[in-house]
Amino acid sequence: MASKKPVESSMDTIISLSKRRGFIYPSSEIYGGFAGIYDLGPMGVELANNIKTQWWNVMVRRRKDIVGLDSAIFMHPKIWVASGHVAGFSDPLIECKDCHARSRADKLLEEIGIQADEKMSEDEINKLLHDNKDRIVCPSCGKKNFTEAKKFNLLVKSNLGDFSSEGKEPAYLRGETCQGIYVNYKNIIDTMHVKVPFGIAQIGKAFRNEIAPRQFVFRCREFEQMEMQYFLRPENEMSEYDKLKEYRFNALVELGLKKENIRWKKHENLVFYAKAAYDIEYKFPFGWDELEGVHARGNYDLTQHSMHSGEKLDYFDQEKGERYTPHIIESSGGVGRLVLAMLVDSYNEEEVNGETRVVLRLPRKIAPVKVAILPLSKKDELTAPSEKIFDTLKDRFSCVYDETQSIGKRYRRQDEIGTPYCVTFDFDSLKDDAVTVRDRDTMTQDRVKIADFPAYLEENLK
Ligand code: GAP
Repeated sequence: MASKKPVESSMDTIISLSKRRGFIYPSSEIYGGFAGIYDLGPMGVELANNIKTQWWNVMVRRRKDIVGLDSAIFMHPKIWVASGHVAGFSDPLIECKDCHARSRADKLLEEIGIQADEKMSEDEINKLLHDNKDRIVCPSCGKKNFTEAKKFNLLVKSNLGDFSSEGKEPAYLRGETCQGIYVNYKNIIDTMHVKVPFGIAQIGKAFRNEIAPRQFVFRCREFEQMEMQYFLRPENEMSEYDKLKEYRFNALVELGLKKENIRWKKHENLVFYAKAAYDIEYKFPFGWDELEGVHARGNYDLTQHSMHSGEKLDYFDQEKGERYTPHIIESSGGVGRLVLAMLVDSYNEEEVNGETRVVLRLPRKIAPVKVAILPLSKKDELTAPSEKIFDTLKDRFSCVYDETQSIGKRYRRQDEIGTPYCVTFDFDSLKDDAVTVRDRDTMTQDRVKIADFPAYLEENLK
């Protein structure tokens, strides 16, 4: 029956499946698209929501010491001055003198095996570019004729509330969600009776003027982050940091990512206030790259916001009779990158009876659709009871009802979106009150009484 071909999914395969099956569409496609922006289709929004729910359960619901937050996208412009983003949130930009394509200099250096990153100064980057000028080629036209690298600020400006546009700091679209957490630290302390150590978590959109958006949803200009900031006593920073690292790695394995496809990468070039920084990388088809980061940030964030706002952002430990500014460890990941990793991780091609079957072996708990209800044919005597089954399940499980095309084609469609179970109502069902239940992974079929099916699903989706 089925033989497994060892198929490495390429980015093209994933992009094409994402479009074909309603996971991810390029934004504004009828207008020719809009660089670095994507829309989630009907399957993509279900998958992303399930991933976010799972993250929220692990990072908030399971933890007595972590609370949730949903801060606004727009914040006081001074926040981005205090955080250092206005002065230093930039990437090194170079332009091809021939075709005028813009690139990130650090990424072009990395591609030829030279250690470089966005934290380096313009001089450091330009020296590396100069020393390697014969090896660095423009990804667009292949020539080797670049301008000097210049720092390019990634904050996205808006004209919110600006009716004069004279000499004022603009309102930015937030470049990361965690600033909303830092500036609510005092509110949470005052209203939620939390005691250090405690964390604040949130999920939300972030915006960056990326110079060269690339690799589909991996690097975009609008994306979603899942961030948690943990406030603690300075002397506990590194021990809690190690615990958070382990917690996040295990959470990704629990979510269903294959252990052999994730690994740690240490940041060698730390910003001056950081104590430690590691990324969890995923083995994407274009190579190992960052999925999420776990960073020990010292007391930089609270100190900066305290200085710029004039508000005290310290903590009084009543038991010890001591006042101090908590240190912060952070966990920060992108929803889009995790959606992409999940699609890559679960993509499979198999030979079935001489044909290729594409199947997404998504972990059941995050599959966009849990069960597809398929009448064998469009005859009323089969469709009416099938719709009734849909009605009994729809409030408990994410279901679809599909009566178009042959049953074989419908099975293949469901395999491609990773639906764990297909239920077929056939002519025998009229006599025995049972349906055929097909398992996505093994393609084996069970005959199950309709009355027992909700419990069957409950048990098998665990
Ligand atoms: N608060 C820390 C912070 O924002 P970051 O490494 O810049 O750190 C955290 O971003 C995570 O957000 C990354 O690990 C990645 O998953 C996601 N991310 C960052 N920039 C992104 C982009 N341009 N497109 C998609 N995801 C992005």
